Amino acid sequence: MLSWDDPLATVGNRAAKPAVRPGMGIQENDDLMATAGDAPCVNPDPTIGMREAEAPAGAGALGIEDIEMGAKRIRVDDKKIINCRADLNQLVPFKYQWAWQKYLDGCANHWMPQEINMSADIALWKNPNGLTEDERTIIKRNLGFFSTADSLVANNLVLAVYRHITNPECRQYLLRQSFEEAVHTHAYQYCVESLGLDEGEIFNMYREVPAVARKAEWALPFTQYLADPNFKTGTPENDRRLLRELIAFYVIFEGIFFYVGFVQVLSMGRRNKMTGTAEQFQYILRDESMHMNFGIDVINQIKIENPHLWTENFKQEMVEMIREAVQLEAQYAHDTMPRGVLGLNAPMFEEYLHFIANRRCSQIGLPEQYPGATNPFPWMSEVLDLKKEKNFFETRVTEYQTGGALNWD
Ligand SMILES: [Fe+2]
Ligand SMILES: [Fe+2]
Repeated sequence: MLSWDDPLATVGNRAAKPAVRPGMGIQENDDLMATAGDAPCVNPDPTIGMREAEAPAGAGALGIEDIEMGAKRIRVDDKKIINCRADLNQLVPFKYQWAWQKYLDGCANHWMPQEINMSADIALWKNPNGLTEDERTIIKRNLGFFSTADSLVANNLVLAVYRHITNPECRQYLLRQSFEEAVHTHAYQYCVESLGLDEGEIFNMYREVPAVARKAEWALPFTQYLADPNFKTGTPENDRRLLRELIAFYVIFEGIFFYVGFVQVLSMGRRNKMTGTAEQFQYILRDESMHMNFGIDVINQIKIENPHLWTENFKQEMVEMIREAVQLEAQYAHDTMPRGVLGLNAPMFEEYLHFIANRRCSQIGLPEQYPGATNPFPWMSEVLDLKKEKNFFETRVTEYQTGGALNWD
């Protein structure tokens, strides 16, 4: 929730709040459940307690109260990625093996922020000559952006996306992804705490520092439709809304808006600065890459099952959305490193953003927008391809497969 007030204290009190926070334009009632205006926020899941008969035609998932004794067994062909009418409480038989495999891969990459040694970062940060002001700005701005961005993604998953993806194996991955987003937010908090940064400054940047705020502001309207308790998929207009929102979050927010920050912080690690923080970001990047790939698979599966949604007009709209996002992220690069630092400069980031935007476009079947763009940071793909046994900054050897270590004797 993009509200730092005690959520319990806001229940029943929403009408008294101003809709817009002065000076920032991000809505005060950004609470993702607050889109129904003054509706009391007692039941956090609007599908609970709603019988199918009450739901509009085409509404998605069946609830637990709809389970029927002796009903026909579920077959693979009954399963659909959206607007499925089959019982969603039953995981198998699998229809989308890719979703189950990503769930297994995500679990195999398990990590926790406390496993990473932060002592070199603490010493460097406390040394007045350890880092330049520009380098300190990069660390603080990125912690500020990501700490809120991951909460926003997690809330969007749990409160908006999950309800509308009507497939158990995809939901299994969404649950894993949601936990990973919690780990990421934990990692940023852990960095802030380890370095002794001002929590108020970092965690409020998304509404006090324009370069950070603009990206969160861009993403908010997309999640608000889907989190509306009255929103149901099942019409071309609403199904397109879901598709648009999935592209906004998976392809743009997690697939473009995270990448300037990743390059900046990982570049510091490559120069042997803030290696603990960089290692946290390295694991986060690997998780995010899988989130994005999952989202792309979901988007493409929706397109396969609902080809009528993918019209020329809609494709053009998505292209424009991606181009706008590239401009916004290029602006973030300018604002976070106005003078150039670590051998990096804003034009290099622009080229990099064009390169990854081309890739994102082709992954979802849109034409590439920036002909001839090349990758000025080829080492980023080495980080992404990293095998789990070894970490990029050579600070330790990591083995994530924790499940096999359990001993019941
Ligand atoms: Fe994340
Ligand atoms: Fe993510």
